[in-house]
Amino acid sequence: MSYLAKNYNRKKISFKRGKGAYLFTANGKKYLDFVQGIAVNCLGHSNPRLIKAIKDQSKKLWHVSNAFQIPEGEKLAKKLCKKTFADCVIFQNSGAEATEAAIKIARRYFYSIGKPHKNRILCVKNSFHGRTIAAIFASGSKKMTEGFGPKVSGFDHFSFGDHRSLKKKITKNTAAIMVEPIMGEGGINVIPDFCLRELRKLCNKKKILLILDEVQCGISRSGDFFAFEQSKVKPDIVPIAKGIGGGFPIGAILMNKKVAAGMTPGTHGSTFGGNPLAMAVGNTVMDIISTKQFLNNVKKSSKYFLSNLNKLKEKYPKIIKEIRGRGLLIGIQLYKDQSNFIKKLMDNKLLTIRAADHVVRVLPPLNVKKKEIDQALKIINKVCVELK
Ligand SMILES: Cc1ncc(COP(=O)(O)O)c(C=O)c1O
Repeated sequence: MSYLAKNYNRKKISFKRGKGAYLFTANGKKYLDFVQGIAVNCLGHSNPRLIKAIKDQSKKLWHVSNAFQIPEGEKLAKKLCKKTFADCVIFQNSGAEATEAAIKIARRYFYSIGKPHKNRILCVKNSFHGRTIAAIFASGSKKMTEGFGPKVSGFDHFSFGDHRSLKKKITKNTAAIMVEPIMGEGGINVIPDFCLRELRKLCNKKKILLILDEVQCGISRSGDFFAFEQSKVKPDIVPIAKGIGGGFPIGAILMNKKVAAGMTPGTHGSTFGGNPLAMAVGNTVMDIISTKQFLNNVKKSSKYFLSNLNKLKEKYPKIIKEIRGRGLLIGIQLYKDQSNFIKKLMDNKLLTIRAADHVVRVLPPLNVKKKEIDQALKIINKVCVELK
């Protein structure tokens, strides 16, 4: 009997320890983990440098209030700003908090310039921005919001790729457009670079803000530090989480100085956000994953993985419909429901996870080795043969 609430549909398996790309059960069974806590453990399990960072910091200082200076947070914020479009950062603990704060920052900006009526956020229908009360209504998903009324107002929606509807939905009350450059939960749908550029132009023309949710696709997962970088656009606000903590809960919002001006003392806060322990880990993750060499390796692994997955698609044209994604945020779209496929992969010791649209999500650690990709390809091939 479990005393945990039943809000998750958990698989009947647990793990005792992890090392790199692998997870081990109590009785020694070894699984290739291409879920990595859903794009969280960017350096795999038990990374020695992260262990050292947490060990060293845990002996010095775990937590102090944001009422005081936190040098470790200053350091990480500087690294994030030097690397990106951003001028400043607020730290949180999770992705949903970061997206909610992004919404607050957008609204507060218009409030602070005397346009408080500009408070509506335009989002993609059936997108994913987290599970808190405003974030679920931002998603525009019936399934996620059912039973959680009254509806949180202030969100409008357009369908992914429907440019005409997007333009129509912008009103004098719109404050911002918020999209994921690569929809993760939504089925690994990549917004093409030219669309991101058009989106930026549209926001400029309408004098509204662009929020790019990089909680899942950011922090080098796409092969660039941010997935939007290839398009050369500059967003106004970017919520991040997942990878930046390498397994330690960290969220953050990056913003330009224009919008940051509205965030005066007392407008936002978090007890745990940006504490020294979290920041020590975040600084170490950042030092490792943001180098050119690391990013080139992600790109190289991605190219190899995607080209071989496309070969499997050619080989099994009745099973695999499309290979999606960028970097190591990969989706294998099937013609049929993916549950059985995922189960069979797991029976063969490869862990993956579902996304919408019959997609099997494949999320290896960013430092995955070629032999581990080969092992995954072999298992995927075996399962395709079994299902033929
Ligand atoms: C794009 C995106 N935004 C926000 C979130 C919410 O993050 P968290 O689960 O840490 O609250 C997620 C989580 O999957 C996500 O993929």
